[in-house]
Amino acid sequence: MRILVVNAAPRMEAGNTQMILNPFLVGIRHEGVEVDIALLQRKNIKRCTGCFTCYAQSPGICIHSDDMSGLIDRIRSADMLVVATPVYLDGMTSLAKCFVDRLVVFMDPHFISDEEGVRHPLRWKFPEKLFLVSVCGFPGLHNFDPLVLHMKRVARNLHTEFCGALLRPAVFSVLMRSRYPEKVKAVLDAARSAGQELVLKGSVTPGVLEAVAADICSTEELVATANAYWDRELGRGGDEPA
Ligand SMILES: Cc1cc2nc3c(=O)[nH]c(=O)nc-3n(C[C@H](O)[C@H](O)[C@H](O)COP(=O)(O)O)c2cc1C
Repeated sequence: MRILVVNAAPRMEAGNTQMILNPFLVGIRHEGVEVDIALLQRKNIKRCTGCFTCYAQSPGICIHSDDMSGLIDRIRSADMLVVATPVYLDGMTSLAKCFVDRLVVFMDPHFISDEEGVRHPLRWKFPEKLFLVSVCGFPGLHNFDPLVLHMKRVARNLHTEFCGALLRPAVFSVLMRSRYPEKVKAVLDAARSAGQELVLKGSVTPGVLEAVAADICSTEELVATANAYWDRELGRGGDEPA
């Protein structure tokens, strides 16, 4: 089994997306699976221009010659694609969206219809499973609703199974290691279990997903801590907003 993990967080290794990904990857590797990791921020991936050249004039080949062609080869040899993106304005990052749009080369331009609607057939093999990893700043799993729905639709378009999502809301509370060492450890341990389960069962059990998303502190404490942090940052100079 080969898993390609695409990290679409601009802050890459320094970010909270990677903080949740790390134990998850440990869990995957523990089960002997080869993980291929791509950091989109390091890649030159141009935006889709909507020219449809890849549909007919050069079937399956984009007009852009950039790092996406190497990523497409890696996708074609993977059994599962994991997309990791933080929530930005209730959706995926622009890095992730740019990447997802460029997956259009996998589609044959013809239309096919089924009970759920119309989509395109695939021209190339796409990984059988798509899994989402995401973090966000605000508390509550509802903050992921638009992103999860979007990824489910992407999976349908690409004829792949959306096999779940590892979601960590209030991600700044995972940084409260000194205040809540046991709760933080439980979250990171659960992320590791999620990686193991994904390999062993092809999905992650609800209890493990709940443990990853579990509250570490109250909303009141999260709000107070965040505001104290930003007050300190704002006090460090810079102009007043106009
Ligand atoms: C441009 C931008 C938009 C964001 N929008 C949201 C949002 O809509 N909801 C939310 O809960 N968090 C939001 N966040 C918080 C991020 O999800 C959070 O900072 C996360 O840790 C970023 O991922 P990273 O640490 O891997 O860079 C936003 C952050 C940025 C930079």
